[in-house]
Amino acid sequence: MSNVPTITLRDDTTIPQLGFGTWKITDDEAQASVEQALAIGYRHIDTAALYANEAGIGKALAGSGIARQDLYLTTKVWNDRQLEARASLEESLAKLGTDHVDLFLIHWPHPSADTYVQCWRDMVALREEGLATSIGVCNFNVPHLQRLLDEVGEVPVVNQVELHPSFTQKDLESYGTGHGIATEAWAPIGRGADLADEGIRSIADQLGRTPAQVILRWHLQQGRIVFPKSVREERIRENFDVLDFELTADDLARVDAVDAGNRLGPDPDTM
Ligand SMILES: NC(=O)c1ccc[n+]([C@@H]2O[C@H](COP(=O)([O-])OP(=O)(O)OC[C@H]3O[C@@H](n4cnc5c(N)ncnc54)[C@H](OP(=O)(O)O)[C@@H]3O)[C@@H](O)[C@H]2O)c1
Repeated sequence: MSNVPTITLRDDTTIPQLGFGTWKITDDEAQASVEQALAIGYRHIDTAALYANEAGIGKALAGSGIARQDLYLTTKVWNDRQLEARASLEESLAKLGTDHVDLFLIHWPHPSADTYVQCWRDMVALREEGLATSIGVCNFNVPHLQRLLDEVGEVPVVNQVELHPSFTQKDLESYGTGHGIATEAWAPIGRGADLADEGIRSIADQLGRTPAQVILRWHLQQGRIVFPKSVREERIRENFDVLDFELTADDLARVDAVDAGNRLGPDPDTM
């Protein structure tokens, strides 16, 4: 049994707080990387139609012998298919080799198309049919979330956003907390950019841990869901080995203080 902590989402489902990210893992690499992650103990895999690696992931899942109910699978609908969420999800399910995902997400609000509200309505129907157990969004700012609430009457159970020590998006996270929306942090270690921070390095040295492990622990203790990505077995292991130590309140505050508004990815308002 995995000792990864879980979070209960607003729809009463549970999600493992630590998973495996797969952006930039090619379809050819995906089978081996996901096999390594599963062997190490990861059971939560984050992918997207855009990543074009769902077939490779599906092969790793099929060969793993792990029961479907012991896995947690997330995929996403890309911007140009917001009005074809059903077709996109059906294609993802076929590649992943499963009849449902645990979590289906809108990948970006892509506000210039003005189709995310309709996409959200369609996703509610897909959840009702059981093709997705839970539904959520990525990269939604407060006004995008507020529109879902105002026009559909339901906010997502998770918002997956860029969040790492040098980019903490505190206002967005607190809107989520106030509305029962769990925060999933993408680029949780800032794609490596935050690992050189001196404060984080000194906490890591004191604890005999790595900077990546300190940052992942900071997320977990603050209730976020994370899925660091690596194609290197030693790092996949390192990123999972974060369940047997604790940061103090002072350590958490020191990592919080690294915030510098350092966005790495696109701005959701213009993407
Ligand atoms: N919804 C969205 O719009 C969105 C956007 C981006 C990402 N995501 C999801 O979030 C996941 C994580 O984000 P991310 O992949 O962008 O960034 P990340 O997990 O913060 O960082 C991944 C990068 O850091 C390196 N790395 C991994 N572990 C390391 C360690 N222990 N020490 C040093 N370097 C390490 C990896 O290189 P190697 O592979 O060479 O080890 C890779 O270059 C993605 O894979 C994807 O599933 C979602």
